[in-house]
Amino acid sequence: MTDVASTSTSDGAEGASYCSPGVTRSSFLAFSPPSIGEEEILEVVDTLRSGWITTGPKSHRFESEFAARVGAPAALGVNSCTAALHTALASLGIGSGDEVITTPLTFAATVSVIHHVGATPVLVDVEPDTLNISPAAISAALGPRTRAILPVHYGGHPADLDPIGEMAESVGATVLEDAAHALVASYRGRVIGSGPNPVAFSFYATKNLTTGEGGMLTGTPEMVDRARIWSLHGMSRDAWRRYARGGSWRYEVVAPGFKYNMTDIQAAMGLAQLRKLDGFQCRRRAVAAAYTSAFRELDALEVPSERGDVESAWHLYVLRLNLPALRIGRDHFIEELTTRNIGTSVHFIPIYRHPFYRDCYRLEPASFPVTESNYRRMVSLPLHPGLSDQDVADVIEAVRDAVLEHRR
Ligand SMILES: Cc1ncc(COP(=O)(O)O)c(C=O)c1O
Repeated sequence: MTDVASTSTSDGAEGASYCSPGVTRSSFLAFSPPSIGEEEILEVVDTLRSGWITTGPKSHRFESEFAARVGAPAALGVNSCTAALHTALASLGIGSGDEVITTPLTFAATVSVIHHVGATPVLVDVEPDTLNISPAAISAALGPRTRAILPVHYGGHPADLDPIGEMAESVGATVLEDAAHALVASYRGRVIGSGPNPVAFSFYATKNLTTGEGGMLTGTPEMVDRARIWSLHGMSRDAWRRYARGGSWRYEVVAPGFKYNMTDIQAAMGLAQLRKLDGFQCRRRAVAAAYTSAFRELDALEVPSERGDVESAWHLYVLRLNLPALRIGRDHFIEELTTRNIGTSVHFIPIYRHPFYRDCYRLEPASFPVTESNYRRMVSLPLHPGLSDQDVADVIEAVRDAVLEHRR
């Protein structure tokens, strides 16, 4: 492996030793461990020593620095992407009798928040190349009750936002983006999160930037101000502003809000991670390129593509198996990689396959042929900045070996 730049050792996994050169690592390669170094530790310790550990100066600094990084008009730190999505829907006044159009190929959180505000999730199929929500399918589902369209930038590849935005505008709906995977990504030259519509990011442990748990909502200052109130019990003033010198103990509750605020401990990690983000993204892109150049020539594999008008955040590397070329299915393929000490995952078990959503909304796989056929053949490979060149070589070797052993 010579075409991948080396990572620094402070964040990088150690190179593995071999029992069977080029095929099986002696140690298990975790799918997506966080890339944490001394910088994060020092920044968190600084907060612990500071006398202020919940929402305060570092949370507000992280919001400003994050907003500057993605070019957002305003940003609100919260304790998860789920919280950001829920807060956005609630502060937009979306609820009972309303419909929100979204994708079935996502994590449960995207849909649970729609259910929680009392609205109806309307799931539509995805596009075959990017696996993002299909504008044509949205168009068929659009109606007078549509209050929001909730695209997920699957794997970090932006959804086709222009037609989605036009359709939303035609019915007076909002586009609320689930950008859990999309830091940093851009669509037609616009960075995800830089527009006026609400966009929710995740800082969960596996994400491109982590605060352990955490999230950020970006949008207009007016929307973010409203969401800030919803995110903290509906209170008109947060604790830092009440307890600071010159602050007043008085506050009013103006909405039945949530307890979703980000702590300064989380923000401390975020500030340190933000300083490393460009390097992280550079490494992710290099690893993805190395995988693609190795797998592209194997007819049993379909590599992920990046459309010409976007820049993916490369949160996931989702390989698709060309099943007719293999004697085994996806689940067996994953077992073969596990045997070779390579951690993998599947993104995602489609929403309509989960008993709650299947039964509550009477969903059937036949309504989502593109999602269903791709779900059966997808496997996510390790993709994170801590991968050493040797790790990348090991993944490539293991995948190649499994394909060669089981091809028709
Ligand atoms: C697409 C998508 N949306 C939302 C979430 C929820 O993020 P969080 O764990 O920060 O609430 C995730 C988490 O993995 C996700 O993958």
